[in-house]
Amino acid sequence: MNILCVADIFGRPGRQAAKAWLPGLIREHAVEFTIVNWENAAGGRGVTPEVADELFELPAEVFTSGNHIWQHQSLGPYLDRPRVLRPHNAPVGRPGRGFGIYRTRSGIPVGVMNLQGRTFMYEEKLLANPFPLAKAKVEEMRATTPIILLDFHAEVTSEKRAMGWWLDGLASAVVGTHTHIQTADEEILPGGTAYITDLGMTGPHASVLGMRAQDAIKRFLTNGAERRWKPAEDGVRLEGLLITVDNSTGRAQAVRRIKHSASNV
Ligand SMILES: [Fe+2]
Ligand SMILES: [Fe+2]
Repeated sequence: MNILCVADIFGRPGRQAAKAWLPGLIREHAVEFTIVNWENAAGGRGVTPEVADELFELPAEVFTSGNHIWQHQSLGPYLDRPRVLRPHNAPVGRPGRGFGIYRTRSGIPVGVMNLQGRTFMYEEKLLANPFPLAKAKVEEMRATTPIILLDFHAEVTSEKRAMGWWLDGLASAVVGTHTHIQTADEEILPGGTAYITDLGMTGPHASVLGMRAQDAIKRFLTNGAERRWKPAEDGVRLEGLLITVDNSTGRAQAVRRIKHSASNV
């Protein structure tokens, strides 16, 4: 089957892009299962209940997240919704869960997990080591299904590459999120695990990672003293990775980067 992993939705431009283009991409590529990272969907930071209600209308089975998911405390109860994941290795005591077994419309089970990296990351000292957790949970889920996806929300390429190799042959895909810049290193590792260091961003790319360039520049010029910023608006793209998986073995058979803009329509 074909599986689509959609990169971090950023602000209103990202939400509009997902609403406008996701249904067509799913039809065009005969996608049977879709995961969407929504950690930046509300103004570029986190998710509010209103934004969650809006995005629940998307044709996606699972919403994954990352460090920004703790931005709005009001989201609390939404983290217990079955379609919503936050990093499995989140600090102790946080609401929500980091993995689940879902089903395609035709009933095929798919395991999905969300983890956060620890190198140059927020709250890194509060996060459990994602590597042993990843292997234990994937092995547990493999008792139910060989089709397993990991959204690994991490900053550095080395930590993401290491996770890909660590789960090679155990997961169908390890996709990186968080840096908002799509990497051109999609591949299928020798054991059959689809891998990309970063899916990119579903949002305004005439920006610095989604924020207005002038705001980001001011932050650097002031050595971080000026931290106010607004989401950018232009250069909107929906980005992600399309993965073809063998349903009986869970092995990836093909990968294709998605970089969809208005000019593709
Ligand atoms: Fe993000
Ligand atoms: Fe992030």
